[in-house]
Parts: sequence; C-alpha cells; structure tokens
Amino acid sequence: NGEVIKSPDTKIDTQAMKVSFDGNLISYVEMEYYMLHKPAGVLSATMDKKAETVVDLIKEKNRKDLFPVGRLDKDTEGLLLITNDGALAHELLSPKKHVDKLYFATVLGTMTQHEVKAFQDGLQIHEDFKALPAKLLIDQTYTSEGNAYSDVYVTIQEGKFHQIKKMFEAVGSEVTYLKRLSMGPLQLDEHLQIGDYRKLTEDELSALKQYCKH
Ligand code: URA
Repeated sequence: NGEVIKSPDTKIDTQAMKVSFDGNLISYVEMEYYMLHKPAGVLSATMDKKAETVVDLIKEKNRKDLFPVGRLDKDTEGLLLITNDGALAHELLSPKKHVDKLYFATVLGTMTQHEVKAFQDGLQIHEDFKALPAKLLIDQTYTSEGNAYSDVYVTIQEGKFHQIKKMFEAVGSEVTYLKRLSMGPLQLDEHLQIGDYRKLTEDELSALKQYCKH
C-alpha cells in the first residue's frame, strides 16, 4: 500500500493490502490444486530422503505445504490430487463420504460373473474386514504367454491400504497393473502424459467442492 516495510513479522491482510517487491506486485496464493498423472516408481508422500515423491514432481508450485490427497501404491499410476487444502482433502478421504474411486486394472486369471457378484456382495478381505460393495466391470479377457489375464474397471468407495490388490487376492487373482482414473467428480485428463500435471480448472474445483457438500 505504498508503505516500506522492513520488519519480517509484519502481518498482512491479503484481501485488503497490495504488496509489491522491487516494484512488482506480489499475489498471495493460499490454496493450490494440481492434477498429477502419477507414474509408477514414485512415492505418494510429501518428502522422502531417498525416493522421489509425487510432490517433488510439481515443479512450479508456489507453496511448500502441498500433499497428495490419499495414497497410491508406488507401482500404481493415475489420478492424484495434490493440494494444500486440508479441509477438502479431509472431506474427500472421509470414509463416511463414500467417494467413488474408479480404477483400471489388469489382473491374472479370467474374471467372470462369479467375481462380479462377489465384488458386489462385499468381499471378506480379512476376518475383521469386509469390503463395501464394489462394482467390477470386465472389459476383456485374454491369454498372453500362456497366462490368462483380464482387463477390468473397478469402482470402490473405500481406500484401505492396498485395497484393490487385496480384493483381487480375495478372489484368487493378482493385480499386475493398476491405474486410478477418477475420484468423485474428478477425472484423469487423458491428455496428461504420465508424470505430467496441471492446475485444476475452475470447473473441476467447483465440482469437487460441490460434491463434498453432500
Ligand atoms: N488399491 C491398491 O491396491 N493400490 C492402490 O494404489 C490404490 C488402490
């Protein structure tokens, strides 16, 4: 606001004050939202001494407090929301909200209507964990190098540790490739190359916020 400030603990009202440095107006970014197409081999964490993390991949970030909303396994690809909006993350991850997460998976074996029904009924993963009903859609089944495989789409409303992998283990199969395609109303942008990211659009952000209200 035209006043020269030298004290580092000066409090700024970001709504009412204009702040410039060396004559350049500075804008304050409170919240950032990125869609990342997570590659395999990268950790879903904020920091790690040895391994590259999903937050390391966001090169042009303004904020240092970004984190991934939920975790994908190191070998899983696909949609990951990276933000510093803790309230939105909390809503999206809340088990009570039953947010749909859609995955594409390649699994060993030939999936049939038997597995579709087992997913639908809710799989018993451990003695003390029965999964909520999940939707299994069989895209194609085929044989490669003597092994039977199925390409499938799975929608779950939970996000327990290794959930999709455990669900397939529970029906005697094994996931060989896993990619998340959507989370609630947010869909992976198919133009986003593996490892690339972009800011959420206004429409995507308002759809997410609207979705979380319900
Ligand atoms: N389920 C899994 O098993 N792994 C993931 O990364 C996500 C869901």
